[in-house]
Amino acid sequence: MDDGKIFYITTPIYYVNDIPHIGHAYTTTACDAIARYKRMKGYDVFFLTGTDEHGQKIQSAAEAKGETPQQLVDRVHQKFRELCTLLNASNDDFIRTTEERHIKAVQAVFRQLMEQGDIYKGTYTGYYCVPDETYIPENSMGPNKTCPDCGRPLTLMEEESYFFRASKYVPQLIDYYEHNLKAVMPKIRYNEIMSFLKSGVHDQSVSRTSLKWGVPVPGDERHVVYVWFDALVNYMTAAGYLDDREKFARYWPHVRHMVGKDIIRFHCVIWPLMLIALGADLPVEVFAHGWWTVDGEKMSKTRKNVVDPFKVVNEYGLDPFRYFMLREVPFGNDGDFSELSLVGRINSDLANDLGNLLNRTLQMIRSYRGGKVPGSPGKSELSEMSAAILERYDTAMNEYAFDVALKAVWEFIGRSNKFIDETMPWKLAKEEAQSSRLDYVLLNLYEALRFTALLIAPVMPDTSARIWSQLGLEGEPVKMMIDAFRWGDGEGAAIGKSEVLFPRIDIEAWKEKRKMQEEAAKIPHEPEISIDDFKTVEMRVARITKCEEIPKSKKLYKLEVDLGYETRTVCSGIKAFFTPEELTGRRVILVTNLKPVKLCGVESNGMILCASVKKDGVSEQLTLIAPEDENIPLGSRVS
Ligand code: ME8
Ligand code: MG
Repeated sequence: MDDGKIFYITTPIYYVNDIPHIGHAYTTTACDAIARYKRMKGYDVFFLTGTDEHGQKIQSAAEAKGETPQQLVDRVHQKFRELCTLLNASNDDFIRTTEERHIKAVQAVFRQLMEQGDIYKGTYTGYYCVPDETYIPENSMGPNKTCPDCGRPLTLMEEESYFFRASKYVPQLIDYYEHNLKAVMPKIRYNEIMSFLKSGVHDQSVSRTSLKWGVPVPGDERHVVYVWFDALVNYMTAAGYLDDREKFARYWPHVRHMVGKDIIRFHCVIWPLMLIALGADLPVEVFAHGWWTVDGEKMSKTRKNVVDPFKVVNEYGLDPFRYFMLREVPFGNDGDFSELSLVGRINSDLANDLGNLLNRTLQMIRSYRGGKVPGSPGKSELSEMSAAILERYDTAMNEYAFDVALKAVWEFIGRSNKFIDETMPWKLAKEEAQSSRLDYVLLNLYEALRFTALLIAPVMPDTSARIWSQLGLEGEPVKMMIDAFRWGDGEGAAIGKSEVLFPRIDIEAWKEKRKMQEEAAKIPHEPEISIDDFKTVEMRVARITKCEEIPKSKKLYKLEVDLGYETRTVCSGIKAFFTPEELTGRRVILVTNLKPVKLCGVESNGMILCASVKKDGVSEQLTLIAPEDENIPLGSRVS
């Protein structure tokens, strides 16, 4: 492989203090699309993702769950692996910071910097929340120096700490950025970082004595390495920094980091300063994408609006989700996630535009040419357009402007659909003299689809493969080279079996279902109980043998109930729904171990089970719960 064509791309490594959400899915999907695209352009790609498993956040989360940190990270990191599988991510490695290979790399980096004098021992002074065991930066303290999380007063603390001589290398980094205007993208982030750098950077505290869950500082085990110092090194670990120098030499000079805009200072200031100190190459590029909100609001646990990627994919399918995330929002901008917009895109872009083009084309090749793709040499409007589209697509993909790339592809799909309307193949098919014109139309539509399948492969690998097989083509489009595509090569193919790519979603029915789900979400639920709690409720099959009115009560009946082994008197508030005749002789389920109560002067020894619809606390509709089998003996236990 050509040595110039090497591409190393990373996602942030995600914290495992909580389970994945669509924000994590977004970064991973974007990197996956880039990795797939580059592979299809002939690059040797190394695509890395993983999990960040040390530090205070993790230790606290484990304590809250009553687990050891190791148990927590082993359990939760699995969810992030599952996320990769869910998303069909083509990552080449998955790194965990608790792995031996990484711990060794962090210690090697730390030791080197210590030996060359770039890490020194000093005193860290800061405001500390003792109960939370965290330092709070001065700019995020609450009023009167309180903890922004728990509100309790902070203590000014001094602690021995190791420091990284970050300040020393700032001029070098500024110089690097001045000569590499695209090292931080988009431009707005570049400017932000430059002005931050120029305002000065302090030496950074890179160890803690206040917690245990971390990489021990080599030679001073009272300290653990600060979690960000530890985490950033992952990118080197996985590239073989310690154990595979050849691999490291191959990939490291081509490393690009994709991150959310929340963590650019770590990636564009601290990390490159560490790399300069280490004498390693700086990242070719750090790209910061924007932030997803949900229905206009920030995603948060307290708002209960955190979107679960597993649920979304389960309901709408993977490729629609991938397409939506990358098409909906210009990469780098913030975006809003709404299921309604997702459904809209599925219906218009996927089912309508793409789905119809495929269906109509294959249908016509089947009816007019027995399923065999005809030949027709020469250029066409579509073949010429495809060259221009490819150019726009490549430019956009190289800038991670997924929305622009996809827009170009959909412009082409739209043009192809219009080509059908204009050429009216169903008319051509009726005239023998138009046969070669019909060949021309069908071949060009077929080629338009083959071309489209290739271009959507990085974003929708599965859909691309489905189209490929419906077109009757061998192999997998994701393994093809985009530039090897030649218009006309599809001639002679025998098309495969057709299936609907994306079923249309009935918007009205969807809205109705959503409304019901929202209503359901409002239903108050009892707290969870154990099976043993449930077993404490004794319920048995019984028969109502007698039903009398209680003169003082409008709602209650006095019932005599036969359990087989004994007879009970029970008061039941079901008068509004039944006559005494309707109830006498009926089989019911009775709760038999309720404490007796006196109701309107009558002692009640149990409760009959009913299901009801209530409005403002009053039953509007009510039915008795009865055993299905008439022969089940009275007294049988319900469990
Ligand atoms: O920061 N919208 O991990 P993290 C878009 N472990 N992207 C989002 C998002 C949202 N609402 N929420 C999260 C960490 N992300 C560190 C990183 S790297 C050496 C260490 C994405 O679990 C986005 O990529 O908090 C963001 O940068 C990342 O998840 C933060 O993940
Ligand atoms: Mg975060």
